[in-house]
Amino acid sequence: MAGLPYIVGNWKMNGTRAMLNEARAIDRAAARFPKVQVGLAPPATLLFRMRDAVELIGVGGQDCHASENGAYTGNVSALMLKDAGADFTIVGHSERRDYHRESDADVKAKAEAALSAGLSVILCIGETEAQRDAGHAEAVVTAQLEGSCPRMDGAPDKLSIAYEPIWAIGTGRVPSVEDVAAMHKAIRTRLVAIYGESCVDVRILYGGSVKAENAAELLAVPDVDGALVGGASLTAESFLSIVGAAA
Ligand code: G3H
Repeated sequence: MAGLPYIVGNWKMNGTRAMLNEARAIDRAAARFPKVQVGLAPPATLLFRMRDAVELIGVGGQDCHASENGAYTGNVSALMLKDAGADFTIVGHSERRDYHRESDADVKAKAEAALSAGLSVILCIGETEAQRDAGHAEAVVTAQLEGSCPRMDGAPDKLSIAYEPIWAIGTGRVPSVEDVAAMHKAIRTRLVAIYGESCVDVRILYGGSVKAENAAELLAVPDVDGALVGGASLTAESFLSIVGAAA
Protein backbone atom coordinates (compact mmCIF):
# COMPACT_ATOMS: atom_id res chain seq x y z
CA MET A 1 0.00 0.00 0.00
CA ALA A 2 1.36 3.38 -1.03
CA GLY A 3 0.26 5.97 1.53
CA LEU A 4 -3.33 6.12 2.77
CA PRO A 5 -6.13 4.34 0.91
CA TYR A 6 -7.59 6.83 -1.54
CA ILE A 7 -11.33 6.92 -2.23
CA VAL A 8 -12.41 9.33 -4.95
CA GLY A 9 -15.91 10.11 -6.14
CA ASN A 10 -16.33 11.06 -9.79
CA TRP A 11 -19.66 12.81 -10.15
CA LYS A 12 -19.35 12.85 -13.97
CA MET A 13 -22.04 15.13 -15.49
CA ASN A 14 -24.19 15.10 -12.37
CA GLY A 15 -24.80 17.81 -9.83
CA THR A 16 -26.07 21.34 -9.44
CA ARG A 17 -25.65 23.54 -6.38
CA ALA A 18 -28.13 21.54 -4.32
CA MET A 19 -25.74 18.59 -4.40
CA LEU A 20 -23.15 20.54 -2.45
CA ASN A 21 -25.09 19.34 0.60
CA GLU A 22 -23.85 15.82 -0.19
CA ALA A 23 -20.28 17.13 -0.37
CA ARG A 24 -20.69 18.91 2.97
CA ALA A 25 -22.00 15.73 4.59
CA ILE A 26 -19.11 13.72 3.15
CA ASP A 27 -16.64 16.32 4.38
CA ARG A 28 -18.07 16.36 7.91
CA ALA A 29 -18.00 12.55 8.09
CA ALA A 30 -14.45 12.39 6.72
CA ALA A 31 -13.24 13.45 10.17
CA ARG A 32 -14.24 9.98 11.38
CA PHE A 33 -11.89 8.37 8.85
CA PRO A 34 -8.49 10.06 9.30
CA LYS A 35 -6.71 7.05 7.77
CA VAL A 36 -8.50 7.40 4.43
CA GLN A 37 -7.79 10.09 1.83
CA VAL A 38 -11.07 11.23 0.28
CA GLY A 39 -11.64 13.26 -2.87
CA LEU A 40 -14.58 14.39 -4.97
CA ALA A 41 -14.50 15.39 -8.64
CA PRO A 42 -17.64 17.44 -9.34
CA PRO A 43 -18.55 18.98 -12.69
CA ALA A 44 -16.33 22.00 -13.39
CA THR A 45 -19.26 24.34 -12.68
CA LEU A 46 -19.29 23.24 -9.02
CA LEU A 47 -15.57 23.13 -8.36
CA PHE A 48 -15.17 26.62 -6.96
CA ARG A 49 -18.21 26.36 -4.71
CA MET A 50 -17.26 22.89 -3.52
CA ARG A 51 -13.79 24.14 -2.61
CA ASP A 52 -15.42 26.67 -0.29
CA ALA A 53 -17.94 24.18 1.07
CA VAL A 54 -15.46 21.54 2.29
CA GLU A 55 -12.39 21.49 4.51
CA LEU A 56 -11.06 17.96 4.89
CA ILE A 57 -11.59 16.30 1.54
CA GLY A 58 -9.78 16.97 -1.73
CA VAL A 59 -11.61 18.40 -4.73
CA GLY A 60 -10.66 17.84 -8.33
CA GLY A 61 -11.48 18.14 -12.00
CA GLN A 62 -12.67 15.32 -14.24
CA ASP A 63 -10.44 16.31 -17.16
CA CYS A 64 -8.18 19.15 -18.26
CA HIS A 65 -6.83 20.52 -21.53
CA ALA A 66 -3.13 20.08 -22.17
CA SER A 67 -2.62 23.77 -23.02
CA GLU A 68 -2.57 26.56 -20.45
CA ASN A 69 -5.04 28.73 -22.38
CA GLY A 70 -6.10 29.53 -25.92
CA ALA A 71 -8.83 29.10 -28.50
CA TYR A 72 -10.26 25.81 -27.23
CA THR A 73 -13.98 26.47 -26.84
CA GLY A 74 -15.56 24.48 -24.05
CA ASN A 75 -12.32 23.29 -22.50
CA VAL A 76 -10.78 23.94 -19.08
CA SER A 77 -7.03 24.00 -18.49
CA ALA A 78 -5.13 22.49 -15.57
CA LEU A 79 -4.13 25.99 -14.47
CA MET A 80 -7.81 26.97 -14.38
CA LEU A 81 -8.64 23.95 -12.26
CA LYS A 82 -5.83 24.88 -9.89
CA ASP A 83 -7.04 28.47 -9.81
CA ALA A 84 -10.55 27.25 -8.92
CA GLY A 85 -9.09 25.40 -5.94
CA ALA A 86 -8.62 21.89 -7.31
CA ASP A 87 -6.13 19.54 -5.69
CA PHE A 88 -6.18 16.94 -8.43
CA THR A 89 -7.66 16.04 -11.78
CA ILE A 90 -8.75 12.84 -13.42
CA VAL A 91 -7.36 12.29 -16.94
CA GLY A 92 -7.94 9.58 -19.51
CA HIS A 93 -11.30 8.37 -18.22
CA SER A 94 -12.71 5.84 -20.69
CA GLU A 95 -15.67 8.15 -21.35
CA ARG A 96 -13.18 10.81 -22.49
CA ARG A 97 -11.13 8.30 -24.49
CA ASP A 98 -14.29 7.01 -26.17
CA TYR A 99 -16.63 10.01 -26.66
CA HIS A 100 -13.83 12.54 -27.22
CA ARG A 101 -11.44 10.25 -29.06
CA GLU A 102 -8.58 10.91 -26.65
CA SER A 103 -5.41 8.94 -27.42
CA ASP A 104 -2.74 7.77 -25.00
CA ALA A 105 -0.56 10.67 -26.20
CA ASP A 106 -3.39 13.14 -25.44
CA VAL A 107 -3.79 11.69 -21.97
CA LYS A 108 -0.05 11.84 -21.33
CA ALA A 109 0.04 15.52 -22.35
CA LYS A 110 -2.90 16.30 -20.07
CA ALA A 111 -1.27 14.49 -17.15
CA GLU A 112 1.96 16.42 -17.67
CA ALA A 113 0.06 19.73 -17.87
CA ALA A 114 -1.75 18.90 -14.65
CA LEU A 115 1.45 18.01 -12.79
CA SER A 116 3.08 21.22 -14.05
CA ALA A 117 0.10 23.18 -12.73
CA GLY A 118 0.64 21.64 -9.30
CA LEU A 119 -2.26 19.18 -9.41
CA SER A 120 -2.16 15.53 -8.51
CA VAL A 121 -3.31 13.21 -11.28
CA ILE A 122 -5.61 10.20 -11.41
CA LEU A 123 -4.86 8.52 -14.75
CA CYS A 124 -7.48 6.02 -15.95
CA ILE A 125 -6.88 2.89 -17.99
CA GLY A 126 -9.02 -0.15 -18.74
CA GLU A 127 -10.04 -2.72 -21.32
CA THR A 128 -13.31 -3.34 -23.17
CA GLU A 129 -15.26 -6.54 -22.71
CA ALA A 130 -14.25 -7.75 -26.17
CA GLN A 131 -10.59 -7.21 -25.33
CA ARG A 132 -10.97 -9.20 -22.10
CA ASP A 133 -12.89 -11.99 -23.81
CA ALA A 134 -10.12 -12.22 -26.40
CA GLY A 135 -7.53 -12.61 -23.63
CA HIS A 136 -5.93 -9.26 -24.37
CA ALA A 137 -6.89 -7.32 -21.23
CA GLU A 138 -3.43 -7.20 -19.66
CA ALA A 139 -1.68 -6.32 -22.91
CA VAL A 140 -4.19 -3.54 -23.65
CA VAL A 141 -4.01 -2.05 -20.17
CA THR A 142 -0.22 -2.13 -19.86
CA ALA A 143 0.11 -0.60 -23.34
CA GLN A 144 -2.25 2.21 -22.29
CA LEU A 145 -0.13 2.71 -19.21
CA GLU A 146 3.07 2.84 -21.24
CA GLY A 147 1.57 5.38 -23.63
CA SER A 148 -0.24 7.60 -21.10
CA CYS A 149 2.10 7.82 -18.12
CA PRO A 150 3.54 11.31 -17.69
CA ARG A 151 7.20 12.18 -17.31
CA MET A 152 7.65 12.54 -13.56
CA ASP A 153 10.26 14.88 -12.19
CA GLY A 154 8.57 15.34 -8.86
CA ALA A 155 7.03 13.18 -6.18
CA PRO A 156 5.56 9.88 -7.43
CA ASP A 157 2.77 10.22 -4.88
CA LYS A 158 1.28 12.95 -7.11
CA LEU A 159 0.24 10.22 -9.55
CA SER A 160 -2.47 7.60 -9.07
CA ILE A 161 -3.56 5.04 -11.65
CA ALA A 162 -7.23 4.03 -11.83
CA TYR A 163 -7.82 0.63 -13.39
CA GLU A 164 -11.39 0.68 -14.68
CA PRO A 165 -12.55 -2.22 -16.84
CA ILE A 166 -14.91 -0.44 -19.24
CA TRP A 167 -17.46 -3.25 -19.08
CA ALA A 168 -17.71 -2.81 -15.30
CA ILE A 169 -18.47 0.93 -15.36
CA GLY A 170 -22.08 1.62 -14.39
CA THR A 171 -23.13 -1.96 -15.12
CA GLY A 172 -23.17 -3.52 -11.66
CA ARG A 173 -20.66 -6.11 -12.91
CA VAL A 174 -17.20 -6.41 -11.38
CA PRO A 175 -14.23 -8.63 -12.22
CA SER A 176 -13.37 -11.47 -9.85
CA VAL A 177 -10.96 -10.57 -7.08
CA GLU A 178 -8.44 -12.86 -8.79
CA ASP A 179 -8.70 -10.86 -12.02
CA VAL A 180 -8.42 -7.55 -10.16
CA ALA A 181 -5.36 -8.84 -8.28
CA ALA A 182 -3.70 -10.06 -11.48
CA MET A 183 -4.31 -6.77 -13.29
CA HIS A 184 -3.15 -4.57 -10.42
CA LYS A 185 0.00 -6.69 -10.10
CA ALA A 186 0.66 -6.30 -13.84
CA ILE A 187 0.15 -2.54 -13.54
CA ARG A 188 2.53 -2.34 -10.58
CA THR A 189 5.15 -4.33 -12.48
CA ARG A 190 4.84 -2.04 -15.50
CA LEU A 191 5.04 1.06 -13.30
CA VAL A 192 8.34 -0.21 -11.88
CA ALA A 193 9.59 -0.68 -15.46
CA ILE A 194 8.57 2.90 -16.33
CA TYR A 195 9.53 4.80 -13.19
CA GLY A 196 11.77 2.49 -11.18
CA GLU A 197 11.27 1.45 -7.58
CA SER A 198 10.19 4.96 -6.51
CA CYS A 199 6.79 4.21 -8.03
CA VAL A 200 5.88 2.35 -4.85
CA ASP A 201 4.25 5.67 -3.93
CA VAL A 202 1.99 5.60 -7.01
CA ARG A 203 -1.42 4.37 -5.86
CA ILE A 204 -3.44 2.00 -8.02
CA LEU A 205 -7.19 2.47 -7.62
CA TYR A 206 -9.90 0.13 -8.83
CA GLY A 207 -13.01 1.60 -10.50
CA GLY A 208 -16.15 0.08 -11.97
CA SER A 209 -19.38 -0.58 -10.04
CA VAL A 210 -17.79 -0.16 -6.61
CA LYS A 211 -20.63 -0.17 -4.07
CA ALA A 212 -21.11 -0.53 -0.33
CA GLU A 213 -21.70 -4.26 -0.84
CA ASN A 214 -18.45 -5.05 -2.67
CA ALA A 215 -16.09 -2.30 -1.46
CA ALA A 216 -14.50 -4.20 1.44
CA GLU A 217 -13.75 -7.23 -0.74
CA LEU A 218 -12.27 -5.15 -3.58
CA LEU A 219 -10.24 -2.93 -1.26
CA ALA A 220 -8.71 -5.98 0.42
CA VAL A 221 -7.19 -7.18 -2.87
CA PRO A 222 -3.37 -6.88 -2.94
CA ASP A 223 -2.18 -3.80 -4.84
CA VAL A 224 -5.63 -2.16 -4.66
CA ASP A 225 -4.83 1.15 -2.97
CA GLY A 226 -8.26 2.74 -3.24
CA ALA A 227 -11.28 3.20 -5.47
CA LEU A 228 -12.62 5.55 -8.13
CA VAL A 229 -16.37 5.59 -7.59
CA GLY A 230 -19.00 6.86 -10.01
CA GLY A 231 -22.69 6.24 -9.30
CA ALA A 232 -22.22 5.35 -5.64
CA SER A 233 -20.48 8.68 -4.97
CA LEU A 234 -23.60 10.72 -5.72
CA THR A 235 -25.06 10.44 -2.23
CA ALA A 236 -23.19 10.89 1.01
CA GLU A 237 -24.72 7.74 2.44
CA SER A 238 -23.51 5.35 -0.26
CA PHE A 239 -20.13 7.06 -0.73
CA LEU A 240 -19.40 7.09 3.00
CA SER A 241 -20.09 3.39 3.26
CA ILE A 242 -17.28 2.88 0.74
CA VAL A 243 -15.00 5.29 2.61
CA GLY A 244 -15.80 3.35 5.78
CA ALA A 245 -14.84 0.09 4.10
CA ALA A 246 -11.39 1.53 3.37
CA ALA A 247 -10.78 2.64 6.97
O1 G3H B 1 -15.05 7.18 -12.60
C1 G3H B 1 -15.75 6.29 -12.14
C2 G3H B 1 -16.01 5.09 -12.86
O2 G3H B 1 -16.27 5.30 -14.20
C3 G3H B 1 -16.89 4.09 -12.20
O3 G3H B 1 -18.25 4.41 -12.34
O4 G3H B 1 -18.89 3.43 -10.14
O5 G3H B 1 -20.63 4.24 -11.74
O6 G3H B 1 -19.31 2.17 -12.23
P1 G3H B 1 -19.33 3.50 -11.57
